[in-house]
Amino acid sequence: MSNQTVRDQYETYPYPERAPGDEAKRLIEGSPSHLLELNHYVFGGRRDFSKPFRALVAGGGTGDGAIMLAQHLADTGGPGEVVYTDLSQASRAIAEARARARGLGNITFHSLAIEDLENAALGPFDYVDCCGVLHHMADPASGLAVLSRILADGGGMGLMVYGELGRTGVYPVQDMLRSISAPDSLPGERIKLAKNLLKQLPETNWLRRNPFLGDHLAGGDAGLYDLLLHSRDRAYRVAEIAELVNRAGLAITALIEPAAYNPDTYLTDPKLKQQLQTLPWLDRAAFAELLAGNLRTHVFYVVRKGRTADAVAPADDLDLAPVLKGGDAAGLAARIKPGAALTATLDGIKVRFAMPPLAQAMIIRMDGVRTLGHIYNELATINPNLDRDEFLAQYRVLYAALNGLGQLYLRQPPP
Ligand SMILES: C[S@@+](CC[C@H](N)C(=O)[O-])C[C@H]1O[C@@H](n2cnc3c(N)ncnc32)[C@H](O)[C@@H]1O
Repeated sequence: MSNQTVRDQYETYPYPERAPGDEAKRLIEGSPSHLLELNHYVFGGRRDFSKPFRALVAGGGTGDGAIMLAQHLADTGGPGEVVYTDLSQASRAIAEARARARGLGNITFHSLAIEDLENAALGPFDYVDCCGVLHHMADPASGLAVLSRILADGGGMGLMVYGELGRTGVYPVQDMLRSISAPDSLPGERIKLAKNLLKQLPETNWLRRNPFLGDHLAGGDAGLYDLLLHSRDRAYRVAEIAELVNRAGLAITALIEPAAYNPDTYLTDPKLKQQLQTLPWLDRAAFAELLAGNLRTHVFYVVRKGRTADAVAPADDLDLAPVLKGGDAAGLAARIKPGAALTATLDGIKVRFAMPPLAQAMIIRMDGVRTLGHIYNELATINPNLDRDEFLAQYRVLYAALNGLGQLYLRQPPP
C-alpha cells in the first residue's frame, strides 16, 4: 500500500485535533522532545543551546512536538531551529497556524514523506523527533534508517511507537470494522459505522474492558479514526523496538518513563526483585512491560551505537544541576511528608517510592542552577556530620523516584 491512503486520512482528520487559538492559553508539553528530557538522554545534560542546534520533527502532524520544541528553544534565547515535515497539508496548516499564534519564527515547514527526506537534503540534524509515525509506515525499519542517515554525528532521536499490550482491544475492533466497511466508503461513513458498533460492544469485549484507551471516546472523530479505522498501524513490544533500533545502527538510551519500565516499581518480594536484577536492563524493561500490561505507547531515546556511554547524564555527577520539569520545587517538596512515601499514578497504576530523610531539603534546592555539588555543600554546612557518601546514597534514592517519574533531569548550569 502506498502512503496515499495514510495521507488521505490525515488530510481529512489531522491528528491530534488542535485549535490554534488555544496557544494563547497553554503550551502542550510531553515526551519525547521536552528540551530538558532530550538534553538529559541524548546529550548527557551538557548541550549548550546558545550554540546552533537543528532539530527535525518528522511526521509533525498538527504540531505538538514541533511547537513545544521550538518554544523551548526560543525560551533559551539561543539560535536553535526546528524543521517540520509531514505528508498531510491539512495537518501542516494547523501546525503553521499554531506557530504564528505563538510568534515562533524558528520553525520551517515542509510537505515531505520521511521516505523522501534524504533527497530533500535538509539535514544533517542534531536531533530528530519522530512521534507516532514509524508504526504507520509501510516499512518502519527503512524509515528509521533514513532518519539515522540524516542524523549529525553526536546527535540522537526521540521516538514513539505504539505498545502492543496497552492497545489490547484495538486490533479486534479494527478487524471488525474492516470486514464490514465497503472499500470505497467515505471517512464519514466509516466513523458512523464505528460509533454504532462501539455502542453495542458487549461487556466482554477487550476494547470495552481496556480502561486505559480513550481516544475513541474523548479524541473527537480524528481520535476515533486514528485508533480504530487506521489503514496502517502496528504495535511493538520492547524486544521488537530494540531489534528495530539495532537494525538502524542505533541503541536505546532510555525508555520513558523509566519507572514504568522498572519491575521494582510494581513488585514487593525481595527475592523476585533480586532475581530480576541479574537481567540486562532491556530484558528488565521487557519484563516490566509484560508485568504492567498497560503501556499503550513506547517513548524512547536513541543514539548511534558506540555513543551510548556519554549520552545519558550520570545521576550523581556533582557538576550537573538537578532541574525539575515543572520547575515547582516548593510545590513538590510540600507533597513530601517526613517519613512518608511519594505516591504517583503511572498509566493507571498507583505507585509509591520511599523517600530519604533529606528529600525535602534536596528538592527545595533543585533550581537548575545549583549543581549537585553545591547542594551537598549547602546541606553539609547546615549539618557538618553529613558526609558525601551518605548524601549521595540518599540522593540516588530520590533521583530514582523523581527521574523515574519523569520529574527530574540534569543539566549543565547556565554560566
Ligand atoms: C499520529 S500522527 C502524529 C503527529 C505528531 N507527531 C504528534 O505526535 O502529535 C502521524 C502523522 O504522521 C504523518 N505521516 C504518516 N506517514 C508518514 C510518512 N511516511 N512521512 C511523513 N509523515 C508521515 C501523518 O500525516 C500524521 O500527521
